[in-house]
Amino acid sequence: IPVEPFDYVVFGGTGDLAERKLLPALFHRQLAGQLTEPTRIIGASRTAMSNEDYRKFTLEALQEHLKAEELEENEVAKFLQRVHYVSVDAKSDQGWEDLKKLLDQGKDIVRAFYLAVSPSIFGDIADKIRDHKLITKSTRIVVEKPIGRDLASAQILNDTIGKVFKEEQIFRIDHYLGKETVQNLMALRFANALYEPLWNSAHIDHVQITVAESVGLEGRVTYYDKAGALRDMVQNHILQLLCLVAMEAPFSMDAEGVRDEKLKVLRSLKPITEANVEKLTVRGQYRAGASAGGAVNGYQEELGSASDTETFVAIKAEINNWRWAGVPFYLRTGKRLATRMSEIVIAFKPIPHSIFGDAAGRIEANKLVIRLQPDEGVKQWLMIKDPGPGGMRLRHVSLDMSFAQAFDVRNPDAYERLLMDVIRSNQTLFMRRDEVEAAWKWCDPILKAWEEIGQKAQGYTSGTWGPSQAIALIERDGRTWHEND
Ligand code: BG6
Repeated sequence: IPVEPFDYVVFGGTGDLAERKLLPALFHRQLAGQLTEPTRIIGASRTAMSNEDYRKFTLEALQEHLKAEELEENEVAKFLQRVHYVSVDAKSDQGWEDLKKLLDQGKDIVRAFYLAVSPSIFGDIADKIRDHKLITKSTRIVVEKPIGRDLASAQILNDTIGKVFKEEQIFRIDHYLGKETVQNLMALRFANALYEPLWNSAHIDHVQITVAESVGLEGRVTYYDKAGALRDMVQNHILQLLCLVAMEAPFSMDAEGVRDEKLKVLRSLKPITEANVEKLTVRGQYRAGASAGGAVNGYQEELGSASDTETFVAIKAEINNWRWAGVPFYLRTGKRLATRMSEIVIAFKPIPHSIFGDAAGRIEANKLVIRLQPDEGVKQWLMIKDPGPGGMRLRHVSLDMSFAQAFDVRNPDAYERLLMDVIRSNQTLFMRRDEVEAAWKWCDPILKAWEEIGQKAQGYTSGTWGPSQAIALIERDGRTWHEND
């Protein structure tokens, strides 16, 4: 379904995110027939550049990130016609009247400002947008993470943007919410009668959430070394996944309905403090090893200096509410792990009593495995009878639903959905201010406790599943991390 025409102004238009994600995503939306005239994409940044130069930059981005057969000549030409460029300086008035002139040509269409820049200049840009009167009735602003590095800085950032824009105009991106498989979590839970009656502490033994990456620092030295895995992945992506697994059924898919329920989960997280941090968390940092078939350096060699920043974290989290009391949520994420793989495992409780006797073999508890990426799909593990006349032998097998096999369509990138939701003014898949702050409220004491007790990042060899302490974290409870199968 086509969306209204819009002007997307991308601050940081010549940056990595625009190049890798935003421009390719908008092009895909054009291919899907979603863009209507006179939609424009306006790159903005400090670099002096002509429209022609920026069109060249855009073309290269498309060539780099799309398949050759997707780059049909007419479509590319049409897309490049939409692309404009303005050089603006966030710290001075330079260029802002040029931007205004350009935007005035599209006074009545939707206007979206995308801040793909360092958060340190969010405030400057917001002020310039206001001072140069660029806000119309249908203006929105999109902000990328990181939203702060702790609660206090997140509040300052939210206040800064909030002085210029109303909450309903602010779209805080967590790109995990735009992933098809993450949205499917809501479909799985609330469009099926099967799971919801079992979705609680009476029937679920524990939950595992793994977001494993095989990449390392990827040149993001300055940002990453100050952030670390807890700030980079847990505060946002992992906690959002946990919310979608744990939340109550919202009254509808309405933005406030969904976000109210997620907020309740964040508020119910049991605090981790100095008293229990060592027992409930593991920090790790990759050392040299092998990844994707080749030898790779350790984190500190990549960084070029000594550092205790964590590139891996495992946490045993608990949710203090009626539905989840006593059900551990084991979370882990890290870089340079054995493979790129994100999944959620719902481990059900074992049966209360077996009627089959020892000869039937071990009866495994049921598991629902939701594979977020790659090989997107859902597997329900069950016990069945091994076919044959040899008596009752039981086997653990899975019912598989693979997205690639079930649907013969391209899996759109998360940004495609999210960029269009901004135009449609649908905030369901964006984080509200209070959610971001509640997530920090849980993470802050962990960060503080690590510092207070001096909990060090344990070394792990690149290409493994992280430090042995992360395995001990779950095995101490008589459970194991779900094996990649
Ligand atoms: C980003 C993090 O938000 O998510 C990166 O800053 C991480 O460190 C990335 O690599 C992972 O996203 P995806 O979509 O590749 O799983």
